[in-house]
Amino acid sequence: MRTIETVEDLKSWVRDMKESGQTIGLVPTMGFLHEGHLSLVEKAKHENDKVVMSIFVNPAQFGPNEDFDRYPRDLERDQQLAASAGTDIIFAPSVEEMYPRETQIAISAGAQADVLCGAKRPGHFDGVLKVVTKLFHLTEADRAYFGQKDAQQLAIIESLVDDYNFTLTIRRGETVREADGLAKSSRNVYLSETERKEAPHLNKALQLGKQLVLEGNNPLPAMTDYLNEHVSGKIDYIELHDYPTLTQELHDEAILALAVQFEKARLIDNVIINLK
Ligand code: PAJ
Repeated sequence: MRTIETVEDLKSWVRDMKESGQTIGLVPTMGFLHEGHLSLVEKAKHENDKVVMSIFVNPAQFGPNEDFDRYPRDLERDQQLAASAGTDIIFAPSVEEMYPRETQIAISAGAQADVLCGAKRPGHFDGVLKVVTKLFHLTEADRAYFGQKDAQQLAIIESLVDDYNFTLTIRRGETVREADGLAKSSRNVYLSETERKEAPHLNKALQLGKQLVLEGNNPLPAMTDYLNEHVSGKIDYIELHDYPTLTQELHDEAILALAVQFEKARLIDNVIINLK
């Protein structure tokens, strides 16, 4: 496995791959890898000749009072994990390499960003779209892999690709969980011991809510009560929407999603519910 830090070196590697007819799968990440990220590498490995993982904590998607500075970083550890999962190239550019000057053209998410995390984190998904657009072009990937853990992000990126005729295919990966049901996340390291014990209740609340939705009931009051009883963190939102449109009127699939703010970590999780 090779780590590439510059756009020029990446482009030259991509050119060689394209000339020899190899397909490229891209797994964009912000690093501090866990099995959720690695499951995407495994999927990419099955479907492409080469796998590029990007590791870049993207300042464009963090708000002024968010955790950009203290987002966990450990490139050496990430290199070992990525290599053992079969990654061919890590692309780990500096902020200056990725954004050498202010961009003149803005890309902005539509109404899908008006709910859930998009409503709570203004500009967040615009920053995600900005970085993934650059990564899609730089890697000339045939397929790019995103986790259902960040279901709103996935839906918005699918719209980007669809609206603007990107030639790559977006592939979805299932949420990987700890044995107790907590969704794996780089931010879990910031939970206190007590919070870590409480955190599996997020998934439990979603399972409870899913059952209520399937029975035709409003899941929100019962989920709110359940979480208030079982976690010390503050509920940021609990919402139910159509998926992947994220509109109010439910059709074939719904997303039930929540965010809880703990002392040092804001955790999100969701379930997709088949209504057919
Ligand atoms: P990051 O949070 O590092 O996540 C990278 C990818 O891993 C995303 O597609 C995310 O959905 C997926 N992922 C995270 N936890 C997962 C889990 N438990 N199971 C399955 N997949 C999981 O999401 C980002 O980075 C950034 O916004 C990025 C897309 C890289 C743009 O900067």
